[in-house]
Amino acid sequence: MIYTLTLNPAVDLELKIEQFQFDSVSRALGSRMDCGGKGFNVSRMLRNLNVDSTAMGFVGGYSGQRLKATLTKQGINTQFTEISGETRTNISIVAQGEARHIKVNEAGPEVSKAELASLMKSVKQNLKAGDWWVLGGSLPPGVDNRIYADLIALIEAAGAFAILDSSGEALRLGCLAKPALAKPNLEEAQQLLALTDRQLDDASVWCAALLNSGPKNLVVSLGAEGALLVTEQDFSKVETPIIKEANPIGAGDSMVAGIVWRLSLGESLQQALPYGLACGAATASRSGTELGSLEQVTELIKQCK
Ligand SMILES: Nc1ncnc2c1ncn2[C@@H]1O[C@H](COP(=O)(O)OP(=O)(O)OP(=O)(O)O)[C@@H](O)[C@H]1O
Ligand SMILES: [Mg+2]
Repeated sequence: MIYTLTLNPAVDLELKIEQFQFDSVSRALGSRMDCGGKGFNVSRMLRNLNVDSTAMGFVGGYSGQRLKATLTKQGINTQFTEISGETRTNISIVAQGEARHIKVNEAGPEVSKAELASLMKSVKQNLKAGDWWVLGGSLPPGVDNRIYADLIALIEAAGAFAILDSSGEALRLGCLAKPALAKPNLEEAQQLLALTDRQLDDASVWCAALLNSGPKNLVVSLGAEGALLVTEQDFSKVETPIIKEANPIGAGDSMVAGIVWRLSLGESLQQALPYGLACGAATASRSGTELGSLEQVTELIKQCK
């Protein structure tokens, strides 16, 4: 089984308007609601690949129920921890006449110690050797940066495997707990090691330092430049399929979905990575929050061989 964990989910609401007009009422030309959060994106991409996963995390209030219902309708299993606060809403207003947008993200509801303990209990009840767990995204107020480290220690001790996709202090502490795989992008890796732009030129040096920071394996994603694969035995740069980029946001989450799909079938990371690249590229080629399809991935994977 593949589990995805989204601790700070959001209802993503996009409103389209013709152009920005302040101090007046604008009429929306259209609106769209999406389930926001890295773990959800991974589950949604897995669904496109016909792979089952269980989405876990905190949901609260009406927005939380809306997320749960939407994911269920998409065919994704959910096993959420209910909280008393209201799940946040992130709002984008896109002016199509001007190709400009405004995005406002709420911080998210405060999570209490008891709610956190309840989530930890659900995770422990699901732990089974050989399963894969994807941990990703920002943390809600009230949750310590150590949370991913604690979860990774539990998961790996049970003989299951953790994949970490986060940033900042949560990523640094999570890495120390030795996840099976970490998937930073270049910016997250640079920040983690406090590298100057010049130091970034020598990838073999800083990738070795990144591996030393804890994870058993690393994929550093480089957008259209592909990715770096870093393991004890291997250091290589891998090309990504060539596509016409529409919207690269969420490409990293799709990449994680592609990788965990193949790893969960028993393939090596070397075998799984091309699927990650193909999934990332497929999603980058779609506009808005749409994710790549299985047909696209099947086509793009041919370019990775
Ligand atoms: N323009 C592109 N052309 C081809 N492949 C792309 C492009 N953009 C992204 N990809 C693929 O997707 C992978 C992940 O992209 P990227 O490095 O942008 O992830 P990210 O910054 O973590 O994204 P996010 O956090 O928004 O999901 C890349 O390694 C690459 O394989
Ligand atoms: Mg990312």
